[in-house]
Amino acid sequence: MTGATMTNETINAIDRDLQPAMYAKRGLALVRGEGAVLWDADDNEYIDVMSNYGVNIVGHAHPGVTTAIEQQAGLLLNVHQSFSSDVRADFLEALMAIVPEGLTRAWLCNSGAEAIEAALKFAHAITGRPNIVAMQRAYHGRTVAAGQATAPKPGDDAGPGPVTHVPFDDLDALDGAVDDQTSAIIVEPIQGEAGIYPASDGYLAAAAEIAQREGALLIFDEVQTAFRTGEWFCANAEGITPDVLCTAKALANGVPIGATLITNAISEALPNGIHGSTFGGNPLACAAGLATIQAIKDEDLLAKSVVLGDRLRSGIAALESDQIREIRGRGLMTGIDIRGRVTPVLRALQDRGVLALPAGNLTLRMLPPLVISDAQIDQVVETLGASLEAASRRPRRRQSS
Ligand SMILES: Cc1ncc(COP(=O)(O)O)c(C=O)c1O
Repeated sequence: MTGATMTNETINAIDRDLQPAMYAKRGLALVRGEGAVLWDADDNEYIDVMSNYGVNIVGHAHPGVTTAIEQQAGLLLNVHQSFSSDVRADFLEALMAIVPEGLTRAWLCNSGAEAIEAALKFAHAITGRPNIVAMQRAYHGRTVAAGQATAPKPGDDAGPGPVTHVPFDDLDALDGAVDDQTSAIIVEPIQGEAGIYPASDGYLAAAAEIAQREGALLIFDEVQTAFRTGEWFCANAEGITPDVLCTAKALANGVPIGATLITNAISEALPNGIHGSTFGGNPLACAAGLATIQAIKDEDLLAKSVVLGDRLRSGIAALESDQIREIRGRGLMTGIDIRGRVTPVLRALQDRGVLALPAGNLTLRMLPPLVISDAQIDQVVETLGASLEAASRRPRRRQSS
């Protein structure tokens, strides 16, 4: 039993009537989960290879995370950061023990975009430079303008300035774009929304050298990659310590949280009070974050994600489907380029009990919880084979003339 008192259809209709039409709706109301399985309001069961865009890293209703949230909810939900909190202190110690060496302080917030906002603001404040160099096809979030609308205090300036986008993974283009007006280079070590494109060997290390040479900061956006690619962060695998590392999504297994990790040097150079967040570092998110890190360690999930990811990608390759152009990925982060649009494949997977994600129009993206089993992976592969077949048989919609 779902326990849901309404059907998919009723819940979808309320959503449609009371929210702006901002998302391409999937037509399901999800009401319950356990591990890598989700149920909708009509009690249909799905294998989850999306984890809500990369959030539920240790699976749904994880006992350790659930208990931590329940206990904390009975004690204190909010403690503003002008006060200290025992659970925040515990979480900070656990987090800073797994980040790349040299990153020593965490600014806590509630989402990926907020973590990025802080990083760019810090880079501007420290270097005094206006410009940012980012990558084509990058995704760093969607916030805009709140800071500009906030009335400036004496000494405040207009904040970070223009952004130049260069092709991802192209060192010459990066080298040519960074100069003495650049406050920061911002890069996803594996581009997520673009379709799961890992940077080539050596690219990120060379980007760090360019940043250092020009006096700009290197910001890694690990909002999507954190905890998912076989290491805590891609930076650990690369042996690189960026000046700033942003993370969010998986950090508290679904409770909103974000973190901007910085070095001591950056922390000391930051003017006091230039940034803030009402909910950032709240004990509920910190309790969930602490339990998430603990679960990943206890269940050895980083190592498992490497084996499971290989199983997934080799299984998909073995389908030898002519509907697949390319398979990319690391750990449990996988992109599959489809010949044709991805939406019919997503739909066919959903109809057969698998929830996956798009990345753009042509790439199928899989970001399963790290607790997914071998059997569930195999089931996903088999269902993908059937879904690709079914999607290729669908009559293409006529273009209206
Ligand atoms: C790499 C990356 N950065 C930033 C963000 C923005 O995170 P949020 O949606 O939590 O603001 C995302 C979200 O998908 C992301 O994938």
